Amino acid sequence: MHINPEELEAQQRYKLLIGTIIPRPIAFVSTIGKNGVRNLAPFSYFNAVCFNPMIVAFFPLRYKKGDEIKDTVRNIRETGEFVVNVSTEDLAEAVNKASGLYEYEKDEFELTGLTPTPSKMIEPPGVLESPVRMECKLEKMISFGDDAGGADAVFGRIVHLFVDDNLIDNYRIDERKLKPIARLAGNKFSKLGEIFDIERP
Ligand SMILES: Cc1cc2nc3c(=O)[nH]c(=O)nc-3n(C[C@H](O)[C@H](O)[C@H](O)COP(=O)(O)O)c2cc1C
Repeated sequence: MHINPEELEAQQRYKLLIGTIIPRPIAFVSTIGKNGVRNLAPFSYFNAVCFNPMIVAFFPLRYKKGDEIKDTVRNIRETGEFVVNVSTEDLAEAVNKASGLYEYEKDEFELTGLTPTPSKMIEPPGVLESPVRMECKLEKMISFGDDAGGADAVFGRIVHLFVDDNLIDNYRIDERKLKPIARLAGNKFSKLGEIFDIERP
C-alpha cells in the first residue's frame, strides 16, 4: 500500500505514526505552575537529542486549534523548568492515570498518589518512585502547525540527573533492573522483550 499523507484524514495520519514508530519510551514529565500546582503527564513522543550538551525532547500535541495548550506546556512556558521521570513497570498505572484531562488546579501528585521529591537545581519536584529523574531547563520550544495535531516541541537541557545506585555501574545502566515501559498504538504498552547483541563494524 502506498500512501500520500496529503490525501488522508488527520486521524489516519495519527494511526500510521503511532502504529509504526514503536515502541516509544515514555517521559513522565513533572512541572509546577506559577500558581504552585504540581502537574504530571506522560509523553511518548520523546527521545534523546544530543549529549554535548545533554538535550532531551518531547512533543506535546495540540488537541484543539489555537491557544488551548496542555498544562505541561503552559507550566514550561511560565517557568522554563521540568523533570523527565523515566516510566517503569511499577509506574504504569500512575502514568496512565496522569494522562487524563484534569483541571489546571488539580495536583496530579495527589491524584496519582505518587511522592514528590525535591529537585536539586530546579523548582518542579521529581517522582520519588521513578529510578531515573532528569532535571531540565527549557532550551527551546518550537511550534508546528496551529491546528489540532500540531505540536509544541519542547527541548530541554539536563542540568541535574538522579539515577538509583542499584541500576548504574560505571555509568552503564542495567536495563533489566530499570524495567522501562514503552507505548504502542491505542491502549497498548510494552515491556523490554528479547535483547540481542550485534557487533558494530
Ligand atoms: C503512555 C502515554 C503517552 C502519551 N504521549 C503523548 C505525547 O507524546 N504527546 C502528547 O501530546 N500527549 C501524549 N499523551 C497524552 C497526554 O499525556 C495527555 O494529553 C495529558 O492529559 C497531558 O497532560 P497535561 O494537560 O496535564 O499537560 C500520552 C498519554 C499516554 C497514556
